[in-house]
Amino acid sequence: MFPNDFLWGASSSSAQIEGGYDSDGRGLSIWDVKKLNPGTCSFHYASDFYHHFKEDIALMAEMGFKAYRMSISWSRILPDGEGEINQRGIDFYRDVFHECHKYGIEPIVTIFHFDLPLALQQKYGGWNNRQMIDTYVNYCQILFKEYKDDVHYWLTYNEQNMLIFFGAVDMIGGTNQLQTGTDLYNQAHIQLIAQAKAMKLCHEMCPNAKIGPAPNITTSYPKTCSPMDYIASLNMDDLRNNFYLDALVFGTYPMSVWKYFKDNQIILDIHDGDFEILKEGHPDFIGFNCYGNDTTEYLEYYPLDMSDMVNADNREMSYLMKLMDKPGVGRASQNEYLSKGEDGHAYDPYCIRVTARRLTDRYHLPLIITENGYGRPDILEEDGTIHDSYRIEHLRETIRQMEIGIEEGANIFGYCPWSAVDLVSTREGITKRYGFIYVDRDEDDEKAKTASMKRYRKDSFYWYKKVIESNGKEL
Ligand code: BG6
Repeated sequence: MFPNDFLWGASSSSAQIEGGYDSDGRGLSIWDVKKLNPGTCSFHYASDFYHHFKEDIALMAEMGFKAYRMSISWSRILPDGEGEINQRGIDFYRDVFHECHKYGIEPIVTIFHFDLPLALQQKYGGWNNRQMIDTYVNYCQILFKEYKDDVHYWLTYNEQNMLIFFGAVDMIGGTNQLQTGTDLYNQAHIQLIAQAKAMKLCHEMCPNAKIGPAPNITTSYPKTCSPMDYIASLNMDDLRNNFYLDALVFGTYPMSVWKYFKDNQIILDIHDGDFEILKEGHPDFIGFNCYGNDTTEYLEYYPLDMSDMVNADNREMSYLMKLMDKPGVGRASQNEYLSKGEDGHAYDPYCIRVTARRLTDRYHLPLIITENGYGRPDILEEDGTIHDSYRIEHLRETIRQMEIGIEEGANIFGYCPWSAVDLVSTREGITKRYGFIYVDRDEDDEKAKTASMKRYRKDSFYWYKKVIESNGKEL
């Protein structure tokens, strides 16, 4: 059974949904100049939430949302990332929060979701520079001061771990450079210190608010019952997941990651007092994204000396899975135990159940699912309907397993799948749709500039409404 006050909702991010990239004093973000995959639209107009937010929030209310996870565009608040504040940006988000509260929807607000102000990338080289700690904390201070009465749940940083783990190759717009392990893990360290400071500040400035991180956490499965595959899964959990959460919850890094650093010549630039700062920044809860798609980790041991693996390496794997090869730790494999959806896609409905149980055991903190879902093209029929039964099936089986996980002790207080309204996928444009609400636009930015972007209710809209109404009983 789901708790009575369970926060049913959905998620989004500013860059992917808002549009209005040059409206009302907003500065550019790295995503506005992002090198796009061929054939995909930019993030300039997105789903034009900037001009449709009242309609969108009314539709969320119609579905019965208790929560809406969204993010703030840093460059709408601070066009240069620091310095002068853009009052029209402040007012926009206040209007959005008021609109949510009008319907009893709790905004769950991500402070930073990939879209770094371009000025900070150009001036400091982004997160490679320790100056970013103060710059981020200054931005947080503005948000906490402005919105302390409107926001009760803050998320510090979206998927910090994925940016580091995958080498930021996809996410860092504008630069798209591969960085060394030392660069990346120093960025991670800087980002963690910034988050710890922000949490402390939030507790001081917003006594009625709670704050936590929002990494992407998927528990690793060993490929076989070989002890070395099990060790690979433990290693991978430490490197991909625990490194970030241990730092924020315990103020330490897992021992096996120190070994990984040593084996891979990664040197952390640790300053006096860094671990004290980490120890002072306690999260009140953990938000985590958990997709359970075909990249669900399924690990085999990957020796540091990988010469014996080279010849066997003709695997048919996605690009992201290949990026999971970590010598001395483990590497991903295709998981033949995944469920198959009605449209043939592979997914893991157990992902949240398994991961939430593990996180509850390790951290003893409440959990909220900040993302989960299934993106693919949808068809808008002539009568305005969208029959996305494949999405319903995917979410239904995941929610079923999540409920069992709660009965087994996973301390989950909310579920915000990706996404409420169709938005622009990080790598595959608007064609890869995730929403309960369809947005009538295609990849053509020129047309999007003036398109009505009319909203339509998908079949999953009506289904999710019933799920919420019945508190998860009617699936
Ligand atoms: C998460 C991100 O990693 O996955 C979202 O937080 C993203 O921003 C989502 O949209 C789905 O990935 P994609 O690449 O399909 O958009």
